[in-house]
Amino acid sequence: MGQNSGYTTVDGEFDTLKDRSFLTIDDFKIEGKVIILRVDINSSVNPENGDILDNTRIKRHADTVKELSEKKAKIIILAHQSRPGKLDFISLEKHAKMMAEIININIDFIPDLYGKKAMDSIQKMKEGQIIMLENVRFDKEEIELNTFENDNFEKQAKSKMVTKLSPIADLFVNDAFAAAHRCQPSLVGFAEELPAVAGRVMQRELDFLGKAIASGPQPRIAVLGGSKAADSISISEYFLKKEITYILTGGVVANLFLMAEGIDIGVPSTTFIKNNVPNYKVIISKAKKLLKKYPDRIIYPNDVALNEEGERIGVHTESLPTKYPIHDIGLDTLVKYIKYIDKAGTIIANGPMGVFENAKFAIGTREVFKAISNNPNMTVVGGGETAMAFNQMGLTSKVEHVSTGGGACIAFMADETMPALEAMRRSKIKYNKK
Ligand code: 3PG
Repeated sequence: MGQNSGYTTVDGEFDTLKDRSFLTIDDFKIEGKVIILRVDINSSVNPENGDILDNTRIKRHADTVKELSEKKAKIIILAHQSRPGKLDFISLEKHAKMMAEIININIDFIPDLYGKKAMDSIQKMKEGQIIMLENVRFDKEEIELNTFENDNFEKQAKSKMVTKLSPIADLFVNDAFAAAHRCQPSLVGFAEELPAVAGRVMQRELDFLGKAIASGPQPRIAVLGGSKAADSISISEYFLKKEITYILTGGVVANLFLMAEGIDIGVPSTTFIKNNVPNYKVIISKAKKLLKKYPDRIIYPNDVALNEEGERIGVHTESLPTKYPIHDIGLDTLVKYIKYIDKAGTIIANGPMGVFENAKFAIGTREVFKAISNNPNMTVVGGGETAMAFNQMGLTSKVEHVSTGGGACIAFMADETMPALEAMRRSKIKYNKK
């Protein structure tokens, strides 16, 4: 079993929740404390000049940083940008500057992690002051110690970064939900040495995703599309177990379910699956088992839009196979999906319905996403590609929660073990005073 089932929340106001399996900023006195705050501000940057192209993640963490500063903590921000070997693997200097502009509070960027410069700056900090240290992935151990072994985080806790920084800190605040599927020292090591609590971004992610999956008002539906079909099958399996009533499918995910149902979708779409879905035979057999177990709860298209030499041509799935690729759900399917969406008490969406980058095949995705954003109940959107599509369509402000996580969001939705969440869960057991 994965770790996130422990993060299920109950109905009602989130800030009155008593049964979270992790602690939050509210559980500790903050004033005067030295806090190590791990954020995920990994952003798209222009590789030529290092300018930040998308500040969404930086903006999201602004509330946590501001709140801790206003509560008079001394805040040491840790974060990463990209990975070694990539063009955007750069210093965090510009991130610090941008964060400071957003919160309108000075942030001192220190081009060091745990050397003399960093230690001296930390010693001199005053209440409310914020410093941001250098990209944690400039440190070799952060890259190398990334496995959850022997059910503990000892190796990470013994890393230089953690052994140097934790003795001078009082609390570890983990706000980096988007990196919570990683097991690196900056994400799990401090939790062995210090109380570890969720920052506001982390708290919100776990509350909203947890509730949308496991306890939001019924009928709860999921809309799953896009091309990461293997992930979507694992997600479907977990969602159906968690009593998400219906799963509406689009994109490659739908094609895979059509194949599992024995429908020949034609050479181009079949070849796409064979070439792009690792272990596609195993994945299709998993999809078949799900269809058998939950015959009325997985909904797939009854018509599709083909890309016939650049033109959109709708066909019923009974008329398949075809020599053209399937690039969108059909209009009958769209009408059917909107009916489910309109009646839903909770919606969680991940992945587009088709090749939405091409205007002719964007109808399914746009109209389904519009319907989701018009639903007045609980609406939660997965990160990465889905968040980008909602943004491009100007719908972000109309949904309740858009995840900051790409891989982390998928891992959470598939109930995979997420080391940083496990570290926080253990910390609650250790520090909770009942
Ligand atoms: C992300 O952008 O998904 C997170 O920052 C994690 O980055 P990573 O995949 O390089 O660990």
